[in-house]
Parts: sequence; C-alpha cells; structure tokens
Amino acid sequence: MPNTKITGLGYYVPENVVTNKEMEGWMDTSDQWIQERTGIKERRYVTRHEEGTSSMGAKAARIAIERAGIDKEDIDFIVFATLSPDYFFPGCGVLMQRELGITKTEIGALDVRTQCTGFVYGLSVADQFIKSGMYKTILLVGAETHSMGLDYTTAGRDVTVIFGDGAGAAILQATEEEGGVLTTKLHSNGTFAEELAMINPGSHGGYHGDVEKYGYNDSAKYGDTFISQKMLDDGMLYPQMHGQLVFKHAVVKFPEVIKESLDEAGLTAEDISLLVPHQANLRISQFVQRRLGLRDDQVWNNIQKYGNTTAASIPIALTEAWEAGKVNPGDLVCLAAFGSGFTWASALIRWM
Ligand code: UT7
Repeated sequence: MPNTKITGLGYYVPENVVTNKEMEGWMDTSDQWIQERTGIKERRYVTRHEEGTSSMGAKAARIAIERAGIDKEDIDFIVFATLSPDYFFPGCGVLMQRELGITKTEIGALDVRTQCTGFVYGLSVADQFIKSGMYKTILLVGAETHSMGLDYTTAGRDVTVIFGDGAGAAILQATEEEGGVLTTKLHSNGTFAEELAMINPGSHGGYHGDVEKYGYNDSAKYGDTFISQKMLDDGMLYPQMHGQLVFKHAVVKFPEVIKESLDEAGLTAEDISLLVPHQANLRISQFVQRRLGLRDDQVWNNIQKYGNTTAASIPIALTEAWEAGKVNPGDLVCLAAFGSGFTWASALIRWM
C-alpha cells in the first residue's frame, strides 16, 4: 500500500491588513478586549470584487505546485475545503481548477464542508484516495473569505473580530517510502449544529425549528426564497456563535482527538515535534498545549496576525512553520481542529 507524502506547501493572505484599532471605529470593541480574549492583533481582508475564496486558493496552490516540483497537469484530483464559497453552487474546487487552467485532464474536484476541520477532513479523504491507489497526486486547499459575510456593527462584534481571510494549499503524493500521513481521526456531533452556524441563506425554510426564528415569516407556500425580507430587515444573514459553549467543547475535544491519533500510532504527546492547531483562539491553543505538556517551541500559533481563517488556518500555519525551518524530515507533526458542526479532527504526519 502506498503512503501519502506532503511534497509541497503554499499559502496566500490578502495584502489588506485590518487592525483591532481600525475595528474600534466600526463597533463597540477595543484592541485590549480582542487581544486579551483571543490573542488576535490583526487580520487580512480581501480586496472586494478583485479576489475571493477560489482565487486565493489558486494563489496558494500555485506556490505548493511549484515547491512540489510538479506540473499542474500532474494533479489527479482536487479537494477544496471552505465555508465561504464563491457561489452557493458549484463549489470552489471547479472554480479553482478553471483558474489554475487544469484543463487537459478534466480531473475530479470535491468540496469539503466541515468548516474549521475542513483541511484535516480533506487530508483524510485525500490520504484514503492515495492509499487505495485511486490517485497519486492530490491538490488539497483550504480557503476562506469571511470578510464578505460579517456584521460590522456592535451586534456582531463577538464573531466579527475573530475571523480573517486567507488560503493554504498542499500537494499530497503517493510514495513507497515509510512515513507521511500516519493517521487521521474525524468526528462530529450535529446536536450542536446551530451553536456556530450561518443559517441563512439556506433551503431549510425554517423546518429545523421555529419558522419565525429562522427568518421565514411568510407561510405563503412559495412566497419565501432562500432570502426573505425578514432576514434582510433583522440582520439574519450573518454567522452566529455561542462562543462560550464552543470554547468549552473545544478545550475538551482538541486534546481528546489528538490523544486518539497518538494512541492509534502507538505514540505519546512527548513524541510530537510540532503541533499545528486550528487557529480558533490563542487561549484554546494555550490550553491544549498545557494539557499535552508541550513547550512553546512545539506549538505553532499565528492567530495574532491573521485571526481565525477557518479551513485555511492549518495550511497557512503549517506552511509558515515549514518556511521557518520548523518542519523537517523525521519530525512528528500533529494537526488538530475543532469547530462548527460541531466537528473535530486530528492527523499525525511523519514528515518525509
Ligand atoms: O473556529 C472555531 C470556532 N470558534 C471558536 O473556537 C470560538 C470559541 N469562543 C471564543 O473564542 C470566545 O468565547 C470569544 C472570543 C468569542 C468570546 O470570549 P469570551 O471570553 O467567551 O467572552 P463572552 O462571550 O463571555 O463575553 C464577555 C463580554 C460580554 O459582555 P458582558 O455581557 O459581560 O457585558 C460580551 O458582550 O464581552 C462582550 N464582548 C465584547 N466586548 C468587546 C463580546 N464580544 C466583544 C468584542 N469587544 N468584540
């Protein structure tokens, strides 16, 4: 059975830096509050109408392709993770394929919709395709454009200050050598689906709960579409988050799923060379670090610069760590994420 090796990494973040200070002018918040509660100092926002999720994904992908030393037509399959796609449909995978000009081979493209865990879920999917022998070279991308869908008034401050835009990419290839992706563990619990969600626009029509609560005030059969007047009037087209609840679950599930991966591989936290956690909140990462007994130099955090970029956060952080010389052959790299769904996941990689 082949193993899965990461042969190229890349990331792209927009040039436009938005500081906490700038946000103080839009809503009732403060640089101090944001830094103390989340660790975030600044984030990046796309230049509207000029770039977006699939184009940022393509920029990160081009770097990963070049570093892997392959031609874009060598790619057998695309996995694209995002919660902020360019279109409701089709997915960003095909849009990025077009942007990259991968046209000769007409390869498949799959969008993954597991939010914060999207990159780890995508890694697991790609790893299974490679191990089964179905594909040899897969492009995996995580990208987000949060800035287009946030509430910039005080009502949305708990969510809005956290999120940023960006993209990260990896080329995964089959190898006969020992190592690479050792294990991936994936979980979800849909009981908490609405605790961190962007419910509208959607096709639900309110049937998961109170019709009125979800923005459908018109029982008139076909009167409401994906977007109702009530949603527009009441500002119901934004993400919503029960922050404390998410936090409480995250600090339990992160260590649990990391331990599950380590147990399966017959390893312990002491064996981890570098943990690259999803950048949800610096306090969550620090909690996980303490729980696992890891030193500062064993954990890569960059939420200070980019905020929470959801599916892009792990590939951006992993690429940065690799560029900084923190990821070397023989190292045990652990990826882990928790977020909307709820979903949570981990991966262990023996770097090659
Ligand atoms: O990607 C994965 C998904 N997301 C997460 O992992 C997020 C997990 N949760 C969190 O990171 C934290 O819960 C938050 C950063 C969202 C919030 O921090 P917290 O320490 O849990 O604050 P809180 O929700 O308990 O709110 C404390 C106070 C409230 O005011 P009162 O009721 O005490 O007067 C909030 O209204 O802080 C207020 N607040 C703000 N104040 C200034 C909430 N957001 C802001 C803000 N600026 N941006």
